[in-house]
Amino acid sequence: MDLGIQNKVALVAASSSGLGKAAALQLSREGAKLAICARNEEKLSKTRENIAAETGGVVQTYTADVTQQVQVNRMVADIVSNLGSIDILICNAGGPPPGFVDDFTPDDYRSAVELNLMSTISLCYEAIPHMKKNRWGRIVCVTSVSAKQPIPNLILSNTARAGVLGFAKSLSEQVASYGITVNSVCPGYTKTERVEGLAQSYIDSGKGTQEDFYKTIEASIPMKRLGTTEEFAHTVAFLASEGAGYITGVALQIDGGYIKSLF
Ligand SMILES: NC(=O)c1ccc[n+]([C@@H]2O[C@H](COP(=O)([O-])OP(=O)(O)OC[C@H]3O[C@@H](n4cnc5c(N)ncnc54)[C@H](OP(=O)(O)O)[C@@H]3O)[C@@H](O)[C@H]2O)c1
Repeated sequence: MDLGIQNKVALVAASSSGLGKAAALQLSREGAKLAICARNEEKLSKTRENIAAETGGVVQTYTADVTQQVQVNRMVADIVSNLGSIDILICNAGGPPPGFVDDFTPDDYRSAVELNLMSTISLCYEAIPHMKKNRWGRIVCVTSVSAKQPIPNLILSNTARAGVLGFAKSLSEQVASYGITVNSVCPGYTKTERVEGLAQSYIDSGKGTQEDFYKTIEASIPMKRLGTTEEFAHTVAFLASEGAGYITGVALQIDGGYIKSLF
């Protein structure tokens, strides 16, 4: 299927590994000109080499922390100056640490909101004027199943990501007339470094072994397995496609059936 995004400019935030990297690779396979970003320059360069070696496409790196407004502003300005525009924006960042209510102070919530909600808002505010000018845009916000069905030991994630769904839905209505779609994806457990980190904190807290961690998770998923980064990436690429132009304001689960509710 031709996604119709050949030569569109795509910024995938937080994309030197995991879900962001997989989404970036898929968009590059579909012919998009890619801007990838993360904080660690060395890892980001390796990712650029990997993607460019596979697809032969344009892949530019931008070392930036998406929680820093000034760095986001500079990155978007540089992308527009180097690649001409931003047509596709994938909002993504790292995840806040796991824990329960007693593990955190209000400052921890402020950091989580900066990481997941404010970074999304900053990226959208910077990219949207360029999309409006072209009367075409695709925004996909990476959240989590925790935004729809809170996960007990992820109280920071549950809190910040629900805000992203509220922002994305509101924004979708206000930019729709410019041909810009705004959707969220809610991945369930997908095998990345982030999940390996959650496994480590499970082991460190004495709850059991790595095998116990994965068994517990798999038992909670109707498909009885974790998702793959490829499955995640195909969904994001579809939402970024020309053909998905009438889908906006949705929060789509990619979770093997994990979420129990109807909506
Ligand atoms: N994997 C899952 O099962 C799953 C499920 C639901 C939701 N999520 C969420 O999806 C997001 C991505 O998860 P993942 O599993 O792909 O994580 P990951 O494998 O740890 O990758 C995170 C990526 O984000 C970059 N990053 C982190 N903080 C950043 C920042 N402040 N500014 C710019 N780049 C930043 C990292 O590079 P640097 O460290 O070099 O910056 C890295 O490239 C997270 O928010 C996670 O909580 C993941």
